[in-house]
Amino acid sequence: MKILCFGSLNLDHVYRVHAIVRPGETISSLGVETHCGGKGLNQSIALAKAGAPVWHAGAVGEDGQALIRRLQNASVHTDLIEHLDGPNGSCVIQVDDEGQNSIVLFGGTNQRIDRAYVDEVFAHFEKGDLVLLQNEISCLPYILEKAATKQMTVILNPSPMTKELMTMDLSAVSFFILNEVEGGDLTGETDPDRILKGLEERYPKAETVLTLGGNGSCFHGKGQTIRQMAYPAQAIDTTAAGDTFTGYFIADYYASGDAAHALDLASRASAIAVTRPGAADSIPLRSEVEAWTASK
Ligand code: RIB
Repeated sequence: MKILCFGSLNLDHVYRVHAIVRPGETISSLGVETHCGGKGLNQSIALAKAGAPVWHAGAVGEDGQALIRRLQNASVHTDLIEHLDGPNGSCVIQVDDEGQNSIVLFGGTNQRIDRAYVDEVFAHFEKGDLVLLQNEISCLPYILEKAATKQMTVILNPSPMTKELMTMDLSAVSFFILNEVEGGDLTGETDPDRILKGLEERYPKAETVLTLGGNGSCFHGKGQTIRQMAYPAQAIDTTAAGDTFTGYFIADYYASGDAAHALDLASRASAIAVTRPGAADSIPLRSEVEAWTASK
């Protein structure tokens, strides 16, 4: 079974600030660094570090070489990535003293994915392979359609949530991995149990992991709900903590079939990620996650 992660690749320009800037305010930053990021790239790296065989699909621009190297260093296959003229996807991220962030995205080449390229990518996959998607690239409805036609297992992390995504046909999705806000947007509910029920009513064949920040996470599927606590950690940068969780959970769940084990592993991996700066750079190796587990 191969895993295709079809998603964004961003250059993250990260500004460290005491507090996130308010409307109309000008503030000085404490420092700026550029890191590799993008929800797609981060999730590919988390999958690979957790031990899964991953092919990344997406598009880089003239300034995107570092992103390819970053994926290759993590043993992600990069041969399907498209190289386009023009600027890469990028973003401005502010990270405050509590490690919380705010992000402004520029789509760049992430928003130039077209049907011809999607057809080329899917020619390399077959029935039973997995495809992991987020919402930072163009052509998502066609990608969902194509994956369903190929009878691949579709996993969707509906992030960032948009109006278009809220009305998209998501019937091809076999697994949702999302937070409370995204779950609320898709179901109109706010209570976690009602969000899970709402998703089950709309997509009866899909399984779900709902992440609840400091309150942990839960898996709902196969007639059972499994709850997992969040591990406490001293956060310095929460960027990509969700992507780390997603990659680790999916890699472990589809390898072992054990949702409880996968939730626990993913929670530990994301607890480590928040203690490190940057997006992709903060994702731990599986050996680090297991050592951290052993030492707690
Ligand atoms: O999920 C974190 C990511 O969101 C960042 O790396 C940034 O690129 C944005 O896509």
